Amino acid sequence: MVNYKDLGLVNTRDMFARAVKGGYAIPAFNFNTMEQMQAIVMAAVETKSPVIMQVSKGARNYANATILRFMAEGAVAYAKELGCAHPEIVLHLDHGDSFEICKDCIDMGFSSVMFDGSALPYEENIAVTKKVVEYAHKYDVTVEAELGVLAGVEDDVVAAESHYTKPEEVIDFTSRSGCDSLAISVGTSHGAYKFTPEQCTRDPKTGLLVPPPLAFDVLEELEKKLPGFPIVLHGSSSVPQEEVATINQYGGKLPDAIGIPEEQLRKAAKSAVCKINIDSDSRLAMTAAIRKHLAENPSHFDPRQYLKPARENMKKMYIHKIVNVLGSDGKLAQC
Ligand code: G3H
Ligand code: 13P
Ligand code: ZN
Repeated sequence: MVNYKDLGLVNTRDMFARAVKGGYAIPAFNFNTMEQMQAIVMAAVETKSPVIMQVSKGARNYANATILRFMAEGAVAYAKELGCAHPEIVLHLDHGDSFEICKDCIDMGFSSVMFDGSALPYEENIAVTKKVVEYAHKYDVTVEAELGVLAGVEDDVVAAESHYTKPEEVIDFTSRSGCDSLAISVGTSHGAYKFTPEQCTRDPKTGLLVPPPLAFDVLEELEKKLPGFPIVLHGSSSVPQEEVATINQYGGKLPDAIGIPEEQLRKAAKSAVCKINIDSDSRLAMTAAIRKHLAENPSHFDPRQYLKPARENMKKMYIHKIVNVLGSDGKLAQC
């Protein structure tokens, strides 16, 4: 059993309380590789932002949870080495799908876990979330739960009403499960194709797709039911069109990739949304830089030659999100 406090990590409780009060959101960036971890830490240190480094099932399969845990421990040391005396870094399990995986992660030093029971019947979601909370709280680990189903491009209707988190359920769900934060569904979805072209309109000037807005009315209802309670927004990549264009220019094929416009994320961050999950934008930043570098330097074969610009591009993107979208820059409790 490793306690996250011994690794220099923190849970989400205090940073979420400050974010809700301050009208900003904490960035939750997924990581699978050393370059992503380095870019996240450099960005968080340069902007003096708290940060959540999260590990998905795909990341555990790719990199191994133990290795990622050691990387998070290294992230704390690296942040200090970069001059940040009191970094606030959370190691979070993203979309844990069983009590066992949540327990495993808590036991190996994660400071926060998500139990995603959104696909389960309501009562079962409460029961497993509660079991995770009871275990996690023994070690002061915080727990994110999920209620409502994230929209998918396969839906006929854009985020049909039935998929949204139901405001009438959230008081019962949070009080009975004891979760520390709640992931909700208000029209975002995972990946780089959040909407089909049919679900969007087209800007007549640029020809670019304009996605439908998030359900801010539902978000407001949720806030009214749970004043001050930390709300989490998954599927929050904005899918920068310049990265998509670079990828397509240098041999990629991402037709009509589309995300959530940043002004909508900015608006969400000012509300009770205090954690914003971003993964796809990091993938796009990395891939765009690698494709460009290799196309322009066909003789290069040392991974450091193309991973360096990839890391730089991700760092630039993380800093942009922190400063211009989430507003978590300068929000460390102590510098
Ligand atoms: O929530 C989804 C994240 O983007 C992680 O996806 O399991 O492919 O790493 P992944
Ligand atoms: P994106 O695919 O929009 O980056 O969402 C990531 C996410 O929600 C991870 O849990
Ligand atoms: Zn997610």
